[in-house]
Amino acid sequence: MRYPVPLKSSRSGPLSGATRIPGDKSISHRALILGGLGIGETIIHGLLEGEDVLNTAHAMKAFGARIHRSDDGLWHAYGVGTGNLREPAEILDMGNSGTSTRLLIGLAAGHPITAFFTGDSSLLKRPMSRVMTPLGEMGAQFMARDGGRLPLGVRGSEKAAPVSYRLPVPSAQVKSAILLAGLNAQGTTTVIEPVPTRDHTENMLRHFGLDVVIEDLSGGARAVHIEGPKCFEGCAVDVPSDPSSAAFPVVAAILVEGSEIRLPGLCVNPARIGVYETLREMGADIRFEHERVSSGERVADLVVRSGGGLRGMDVPPDRVPSMIDEIPVLAVAAACANGITRLTGLAELRVKESDRLAAVASGLSACGVRVEAGQESLTIHGTGGSVPGGAHIETNLDHRIAMAFLVLGMVADSPVTVDDSRPIATSFPGFVDLMNDLGAQIEPVDGAILLARD
Ligand code: S3P
Repeated sequence: MRYPVPLKSSRSGPLSGATRIPGDKSISHRALILGGLGIGETIIHGLLEGEDVLNTAHAMKAFGARIHRSDDGLWHAYGVGTGNLREPAEILDMGNSGTSTRLLIGLAAGHPITAFFTGDSSLLKRPMSRVMTPLGEMGAQFMARDGGRLPLGVRGSEKAAPVSYRLPVPSAQVKSAILLAGLNAQGTTTVIEPVPTRDHTENMLRHFGLDVVIEDLSGGARAVHIEGPKCFEGCAVDVPSDPSSAAFPVVAAILVEGSEIRLPGLCVNPARIGVYETLREMGADIRFEHERVSSGERVADLVVRSGGGLRGMDVPPDRVPSMIDEIPVLAVAAACANGITRLTGLAELRVKESDRLAAVASGLSACGVRVEAGQESLTIHGTGGSVPGGAHIETNLDHRIAMAFLVLGMVADSPVTVDDSRPIATSFPGFVDLMNDLGAQIEPVDGAILLARD
C-alpha cells in the first residue's frame, strides 16, 4: 500500500548556489528507445532516473533490448536492430508517462508484433487516438477503450506503409510516434507540423547517424522526412539537464528577493526555452552562458538573479508549444507580477497529466489570486508581490502542478500545501532536497512522514 505524501512550502529566504538539474526527460526517453534499437552498445551519460524514463527502459527490455546501469551511473543499452523488436510477454505498465506510451506505441506499430499498454489513473484518461489515427494509416491495428484510452493493444504491421501526415495538434509525441514507426516502414515517412514542436527525436536520430530531412515550409510550418527501413548502430549520448525541471527553481529565484542561482549544462534547444524568453520579457534576469552543442542538442549554463519585479504580458500563442510543460510555473510567476498576463492557445493543457488549465485556475484562486479561465485561455491578475497563499492544492497525480504550487508557497504570505508529492519522482527525483539546499523550506505536513513510510 502506498499513501499520498503531502508537503508544505513556506516563505523562503534568498536562494543561492550552483546545482545540477537532473537529465532531460524527453531526451532520456529517446536515448533509451534508439539505444534499445541500435546494434551494439549505446552508453548514456546523465540519463534522468525518474519513474517515467525507467518505465521506458523497462518496456525496451520487454521488447528485447538489454539495458543496465553501471555503478558509475552510466546506462548501457544493447539494441535489437530495427525490424527485430520482440513481442513483449507481459502487459507494459507505463505508469504516469504519456511520452513513453505514445512513442512506444509508434515503435511497436512499425513492427509485426502485438503489444499491450496500460498505466496509472492519470494515464488511463489521456487520449491515444491522436497516435492511433496516423499509425492506423501505416497499417497498425488497435483495440482501445472508448475515446482511444488505455488499456490499449496494438498489432503492428507486417510491412508498415509510409505516410505523409499533417499534425492536427502540435504534439512532439505524435510526430515522434510516426517517425519511430517510419524507421521500419518501406519508403519515406513525412510528418508536417504547422507549428514546430520539440525536435529531440529528429536530433537523436541524426546523432545515431540517420538521415532526417527537415524542410521549412511557408508560414513557419515544417516537414520532417525519414526513409525506412533503417538499421543503425549504437553510440554515446550525453543527456543535458532538463529545462522544464529547471523552470521551478528558476521562477523561485526570480521571485525571492536577493537570490542568485547557477544551473550548469541545461538543454537550451530553441523549441524548449519559451518560458525563459517569456520571463525575460516580463523583466527577469536570466542569462545563458557558454552556449555549446552536445549530442546534437544546444546546451548552456544558466545564471538567474532576482530583482526588479516582473511585469504581466500577453504571451504569443505560437510560443505555447515551446513552453507547454512550463505553463503552471509561469502562471505562478504571473501571479506575482505587476499587471495582467494573458495566455491563449492552451487547449493542450487540458489533456496533460491532469487538466492543467483547470488545476492552475483553481489553485491560484484558492491562493487568493484573481484568475479567469476560458476553454483555451488563462488571464492572471498579478498581485505585484506576494500572494495570500494558505491553500491546500489537489495535484491529481500531476508532478508539475505539485512543484508549481510548492514554488508559490515560497513567496506566499501563508504556507501552501500539496496533497501528494509522490508524482514529482516521475520527472524530478530529488526536487525537495535540491530546492531546500538552495534555501527553500519545503517539508512534510505534520504527521505525514509516518504515512510516507508504509
Ligand atoms: C514531450 C512532448 C510534449 C510534452 C511532454 C514531453 C516529448 O507533449 O508535454 O512532457 O517528450 O515528446 P505533447 O507532444 O503531447 O505536446
